[in-house]
Amino acid sequence: MVSCSSDNDLAARASEAWISEIARASRAGKPHCVALSGGRIARKFFTATVHRIRTGRIGGGDSARLLDHVHFFWADERCVPPTDGESNFRMADELLFRPLGVSAGRIHRICGEESPEVAAEKAAAEISRIVPLKAAGQPALDLILLGLGEDGHVASLFPGESEAVASGPEVYRSVHNSPKPPLKRVTLGYAAIAAAGQVWMLASGGGKAAALGDAVSPAGNNPFARVLRSRSGVTVFRDF
Ligand code: 6PG
Repeated sequence: MVSCSSDNDLAARASEAWISEIARASRAGKPHCVALSGGRIARKFFTATVHRIRTGRIGGGDSARLLDHVHFFWADERCVPPTDGESNFRMADELLFRPLGVSAGRIHRICGEESPEVAAEKAAAEISRIVPLKAAGQPALDLILLGLGEDGHVASLFPGESEAVASGPEVYRSVHNSPKPPLKRVTLGYAAIAAAGQVWMLASGGGKAAALGDAVSPAGNNPFARVLRSRSGVTVFRDF
């Protein structure tokens, strides 16, 4: 658990940690496959990342080319066009990709302009084309960055799903009744989150305290609690 003094401090510390991960992969000559989330703290995280890369020489190399081996995916996306203000892709494009000149070939956006089912199917095919698959057919992403909802949701995995749905093997799945607008979304499933090398939770805002407390308690049953039970570790950055 990384306790931060503010949302800006959380964004800066998580960004610094992420850049270190990217630099480590670069030195090892390996790609870094990351899945991004949306939300307010993601916005600050992207901005902090651009600032740090632009103002510092990282890993002794040319920081401007640091992202040349990074492939970008999403933990979830809203089913809206990529130009829509609600699009997680658009936010990352404006705040991260364009400022750092990330090439389109390494940006694997979820096609929010499609129906949730078609978008989920296309996203699963794309991630499986790029990211090595583990034995159970789940992609071995290097890192998934998650935000936390006040109700304990992560990505677009919300409370109240049936066990049959929650335990499904789909890499990406459709959501039609998101309690957080927009209604229609696509989300990584729990199995894909469990399969990632690392999962980082950027929990920002005092309104998340109860959800985090529930998730880490033995009787926790919100979506983040399920993620915590499904894998060996999650790095939590919190600012409350
Ligand atoms: C989304 C996000 C969602 C978000 C949390 C936290 O597409 O809405 O992926 O899971 O990360 O709701 O959002 P805030 O950082 O704005 O509280």
